[in-house]
Amino acid sequence: MDGRTGWNGSEDGQMTTSVAGAIERIPRVPLATLPTPLHEARRLRDALGGPDRCPRILLKRDDLTGLALGGNKARKLEFLVADALRGGATILVTTGGAQSNHARMTAAAGRMVGLPTSLVLSAAAGERDVQGNLLLDRLLGAEVTFVEPASDPMKLTGPDEAAALAELEAALRARGERPYLVPLGGSTPLGVLGYVAGALELEGQLEAAGERPGRLYVACGSRGTAAGLVLGARLAGASYVVHGVAVSGGDPASTGFAVEIANGAAELLGSDVRLTTGDFATDQSQIGPGYGRSTRGSVEAIELLARSEGILLDPVYTAKAMAGLVADVRDGAVDPAATVVFLHTGGQPALFAHAAELAASTAQDTGEDRARR
Ligand SMILES: Cc1ncc(COP(=O)(O)O)c(C=O)c1O
Repeated sequence: MDGRTGWNGSEDGQMTTSVAGAIERIPRVPLATLPTPLHEARRLRDALGGPDRCPRILLKRDDLTGLALGGNKARKLEFLVADALRGGATILVTTGGAQSNHARMTAAAGRMVGLPTSLVLSAAAGERDVQGNLLLDRLLGAEVTFVEPASDPMKLTGPDEAAALAELEAALRARGERPYLVPLGGSTPLGVLGYVAGALELEGQLEAAGERPGRLYVACGSRGTAAGLVLGARLAGASYVVHGVAVSGGDPASTGFAVEIANGAAELLGSDVRLTTGDFATDQSQIGPGYGRSTRGSVEAIELLARSEGILLDPVYTAKAMAGLVADVRDGAVDPAATVVFLHTGGQPALFAHAAELAASTAQDTGEDRARR
C-alpha cells in the first residue's frame, strides 16, 4: 500500500477511521473507563507565569482510567488480557519494582476476568512494607515473590528477575496452571495498541475542541506508552510531537526497544508505517539520582499541580514528566503562544509509599506565600 495515499501515513480523517477499524479487529476486553477527560489547566498556567511565559496546558487524564485507582496500564492490559484469555491462561504473571503500578493494575485486570495474578517484584528490604501499590496488590490477592533490586539505581528491575520469573513459571506449570506472562510494563506490540487507541481517542477530543497542540509530554519507563502514542499520532496525522521524559536510564537501548515494539504494533495493524529512533525524543534531564528517587523538581511539580489545580501527580513518573514541562517553560523552550498536552498516566498509590520523604520536603502552606502575592 502506498504510504501516502492509504491509511498508512496520510493526513486525512478517513485514516483515523481505518486505524480504528484495524484496532477493532484485535481482541480486547474492556477494563478502562474511556474516554478519559481532557481539560485545560488554567491555574497551572497562571502559576507558571501566565500567557506571557507559559503555553496553554491541556491535561489528558489517564489517571482516571478507573482500574483499581487508574493509570496508563489499563489501556495496554485490555489487549494483553484478551490475549491471555484466548490462549486459555489460568493465571497472569508479571514483574516490576516494589511500587509497580503495572503490577497492581495487572492484578486488578486479572480479577476482572476471573484470573489470579502472581508478581515478581524487585524490592530492597526497606521497600517491602505493605503500603501504596503493595497494599493494593495484597488486597487484590496477588501472590508476590520479592527479588533484590538492581544495584544500579538507573535500572527499573533487578538482575535476579529473569531467573525468578523462569522459576515461578516452572512452579506454576508443575501445579497444573497455564501462566500468561505480561512482560515488564505491558510493553509489547500488543500492549502498544492500547496507546495507539489512546492517541486516536485524544485526536477525536482535540478535533472536537478545535485544538492543535504542538507537543505532548509523557513519562517514559518501559516505553510502551510512548511507542503507542508516537505510532498513533503518526497514523492519525496528529499536530503534536510526543515529548517523552525519561524516569530511568537505559538509552539509547530503550529508544531502540520503543522503535521495535511500535513497529511490531504497526505490523499487527497491517500498516506499513515504520518508525525510527529519530521519531522518539526523550528528555533525559529529569531522572535525577535514579528510578523512583525524588528530585527537587519532582517534589515541586507535585506541590505545584496539587496547589494550583487540586490534581495529584505520582512521585515516580508523572512528577518527573511535569518537572520536565516546568523546566521547559522556565527555560523558554516552549512557545507561550502554543498549546501542549500533558498525559497524566496515574500512579498516585505510590505517593503513600513516599509519605515520609514527601512530608519532609514539602512545605506546609502557612498562608505567607499568598499574603506576599
Ligand atoms: C504512572 C505511570 N506513568 C508512566 C509509566 C510509563 O509507561 P511505560 O512503561 O509504558 O513507559 C508507568 C509505567 O509503569 C506508570 O506506572
